[in-house]
Amino acid sequence: MHISRRHIHFLVAVGLLWVAGWVVGQHWTSTRVADPGQWVIQTSGRYPYRERGDFVLAELDLRNGDTVLDIGAGDGYWTEKMAQAVGPEGRVYAGEVEQRQVERLQSHFGDLAQVEPYLCPMDNTGLAENTCDLVFLSQTWHHIDQDVHEGYLKHLRSVVRPTGRLCIIERYLAISQTRSTHGTQISRLTAEAESTGWILLRHSIIPGTDYFMAVFVQRELFQTEGRDAD
Ligand SMILES: C[S@@+](CC[C@H](N)C(=O)[O-])C[C@H]1O[C@@H](n2cnc3c(N)ncnc32)[C@H](O)[C@@H]1O
Repeated sequence: MHISRRHIHFLVAVGLLWVAGWVVGQHWTSTRVADPGQWVIQTSGRYPYRERGDFVLAELDLRNGDTVLDIGAGDGYWTEKMAQAVGPEGRVYAGEVEQRQVERLQSHFGDLAQVEPYLCPMDNTGLAENTCDLVFLSQTWHHIDQDVHEGYLKHLRSVVRPTGRLCIIERYLAISQTRSTHGTQISRLTAEAESTGWILLRHSIIPGTDYFMAVFVQRELFQTEGRDAD
C-alpha cells in the first residue's frame, strides 16, 4: 500500500491533537462545583493550609535549580518542602525578622546547602535585584505594615526575575468562620498588586481550608508583540 507524504502529515497532526487533548484533560480542572461538599472547610488549628501542602506545591510547580525566597519562613515548614523541590542546584532563601528564628533555621537546615536562612529587614527582603524565580509569603503578608505595602510590592518586582512569580497565602476573611482578623482581603491585595505592576495569574482557595493562595506575575509578560494595542 502506498502512503503519501500528505497522509503521513495528516496522521501526525491527528496524533499531536490527541496527545494535546490528553494532556489538557489530565491537568485542567474546571470551576464546576461537582459536589456541594467540595468546598466545606475541613481543617483547623494554627496552620490548616499545611494539611494541603501537596496542593500548594503542585500549584507552584517548582523545578530543579529554581531560586525561591520564603519570607517569614517561621519554623521552616515550607522552606523544607521547597528545598526538596529545587534540589541541590537550587536555592531557598529563608527570610526572618527574628534573630532567634534565624538561628533555629540555621541549626535545622545545617546539612542542606541549598537553604540560606537570613535576618531580613521589616520593610524589604534585603536581597539583590533579579535573584528569585519565586517569592513566597505564607501567612506573613498581614504582618507587613500596611504603610509599606506599596513600596514592598515594588521592591519585590525588582527582586523577582522577569518570568518569576509572587505567591501569597493568607486567610480568606470572606469565608472564614473564625473570629481571627489575621488575614487579607483579596480585593485589597489585588488592587495593591495591580497598582505596583503585578498581575493576578491565579487565585485559588486551598481546598478544605479558609485560606487562599494568590499567584502574581509581572505585567510586562502581557505586552503585545508587534501588534497595535487599540
Ligand atoms: C504566622 S508565621 C508564618 C510561618 C510560615 N510562613 C507558615 O506559613 O507557616 C509569620 C512569620 O512572619 C514573620 N514576619 C513578621 N513580619 C515580617 C516581615 N516584615 N518580614 C518577614 N517576616 C516577617 C514572623 O516572625 C513569623 O515567623
